[in-house]
Amino acid sequence: MTITPQWKDELRARITLSTVILRTDKITKAGREWKGCCPFHDEKTPSFYVNDQKQFYHCFGCGAHGDVISWMTEQRGLSFIDAIKELAAEAGMEVPAPDPVAAKKAEKRASLIDVTTDAQEWFVDNLRGADGREALEYLQQRGLKPETLREFGFGYAPESKQALNRALARYDEGMLVDTGMRIRTDDGTTYDRFRGRVMLPIQDTRGRVIAFGGRILQDRDGLAKYLNSPDTPLFDKGRTLYNLHRAAPASRQTGRVIVVEGYMDVVALAQAGFNDAVAPLGTALTEMQLEMLWRMVEVPVLCFDGDQAGQRAAMRAIGRALPMLAPMRSLSIVRLPSGMDPDDLINSQGRGAMERLLAEPKSMLDTLWEFERDAQPLESPEAKAGLKARLMEHVDTIQDRDIQSLYRRDLLDRFSAFAYPPRKPREQAKRGPWQGATAVPKTLSAGARATLQKAMAGGQRSDLLSAVIAGLVRHPDEISGHSEALIRLARHDQNAAPAIESLIELSETLDSGGQSAISAEQGYPAPPVDNRYTFLREGTPPGEAREELAEAVSLLAHKPALEAAMAATVARFEDDPEGSFAEQARLRQQLTTVEERLKAFGRKRAASPADRDRNSVVSDSQTGETADNLEMD
Ligand code: UTP
Ligand code: MN
Repeated sequence: MTITPQWKDELRARITLSTVILRTDKITKAGREWKGCCPFHDEKTPSFYVNDQKQFYHCFGCGAHGDVISWMTEQRGLSFIDAIKELAAEAGMEVPAPDPVAAKKAEKRASLIDVTTDAQEWFVDNLRGADGREALEYLQQRGLKPETLREFGFGYAPESKQALNRALARYDEGMLVDTGMRIRTDDGTTYDRFRGRVMLPIQDTRGRVIAFGGRILQDRDGLAKYLNSPDTPLFDKGRTLYNLHRAAPASRQTGRVIVVEGYMDVVALAQAGFNDAVAPLGTALTEMQLEMLWRMVEVPVLCFDGDQAGQRAAMRAIGRALPMLAPMRSLSIVRLPSGMDPDDLINSQGRGAMERLLAEPKSMLDTLWEFERDAQPLESPEAKAGLKARLMEHVDTIQDRDIQSLYRRDLLDRFSAFAYPPRKPREQAKRGPWQGATAVPKTLSAGARATLQKAMAGGQRSDLLSAVIAGLVRHPDEISGHSEALIRLARHDQNAAPAIESLIELSETLDSGGQSAISAEQGYPAPPVDNRYTFLREGTPPGEAREELAEAVSLLAHKPALEAAMAATVARFEDDPEGSFAEQARLRQQLTTVEERLKAFGRKRAASPADRDRNSVVSDSQTGETADNLEMD
């Protein structure tokens, strides 16, 4: 099919660009234009503008620029043909019929590749020349060896607006613009797209240079760190994977494909001997890219940063892959240490560290489960229902019926086990007829005893935590009922973990008769008496002690869970500012309440043991009384 400029004009005129962009991205009205954070690069202050009259978008940060068609191809990841079809349907236009002139297009493509190939040669020459000194030093300082630079074709684009056109004077300006090497402004003037950047060629499956990525030498505000070629007749970002032409043959040897986020990661991996890595080009993985990966191996390995943003990126990839799952077709996920990409990891910890992570990737199912499980604290039936709903929402997107029902069954099992943990065997045995035979009283190990003694003596940072541990030693039959909260607390607070493990060991030594008193013969440590806490005071009625202990355990476990939820919500701010903001306000309020209640422990109660009104605890502490500063984290 031939799409004439007239046809495109008509299409653009019939479609309001901002309407299309608003479907996927947040932009707001700013005078006659629209404005928002740029979807093409990472930024916090908006520099992306949409002009419906002129029918284009433009980013002053990274230079992204285009019309509704390039929006569909570059941002939404459609092929040119699919974009045209979708937009034509929306505009109520006929897609022009196929015609034999297609052959001519292929010819043009071939000659465009001449341009990019020659540009590549020129970039490489620059890196070796005087202009490229600083760039070469930069690359060496990043630890890249000469043979790596050669293999990956690193080059340099000089800091000039009119250098490439002079070097490639044998091509006419139109071709330089069509390949994305030069930018044509509205008034018809042209200039070099890549200036003062280290250049990396992007190659097609046959190894031909079709586009470029360029990196600045020094990270600076207001300048995109990386700039890629725009989509051109040669380059379709959503259908290209960086390094595919090297990784595909390598993956036939290793049976593996590693997917990383940046091309410098691919290069660092290759230098460390992992030749089977690819990267998408600055966007989330598209469906086409997933298809390409699955053509190589059944289960590509995706590597993500362990931080919140990385985990969200992992979930985005999983979300895209779920509908496409099929028998023998999945993904696995490697989570890197927080704040690190493979390049950082290899440089700081060596190849072995990467090898070890790659040896144990997580399944999609595990990743999905852990992400949703940890997204929110599970303190109420509503929160439990929320977790279940989120899990089932993912399951519903799976198209393959068998896989869908397997996911559903597995996730529901995990959900039930987590939200409603089985009772301790001790309690089950109580009801069983065989109880006498199996419930053999055990003795607490010396290690656990020592750990508990230390914890009770205030070896922990938090006073309340030591008191609670002592309280549970004093009332050991309470431990199993709080095991879920305790385990959660141990997960969030590594200092508390050994004492909590010892407590659980202690609860397992209780005999089946439901013994509730401590016994020195079984090797239990002796908890201190502390009149500040009901549960450590002599002669408190057991019901009262139990109640206060329960509140303390639940508050201690709830606080770090809220903090984790808060961090996740803050991280979500860019994707969904309004939702995130509202959620932050809600969580902040909950946190304040929890903190106030925590502070009230061991203070108010010592003064007036009779005052056990839960509500008054919160309001009391708001009167400005100085509270013991409880250090949690
Ligand atoms: P990162 O910001 O993680 O960079 O972007 P990096 O790969 O660690 O790069 P170095 O180590 O700082 O050099 C990951 C990928 O996102 C795209 C690029 O494709 C990059 O490889 N990106 C990033 C852009 O397209 N534009 C940007 O401004 C930043
Ligand atoms: Mn990096």
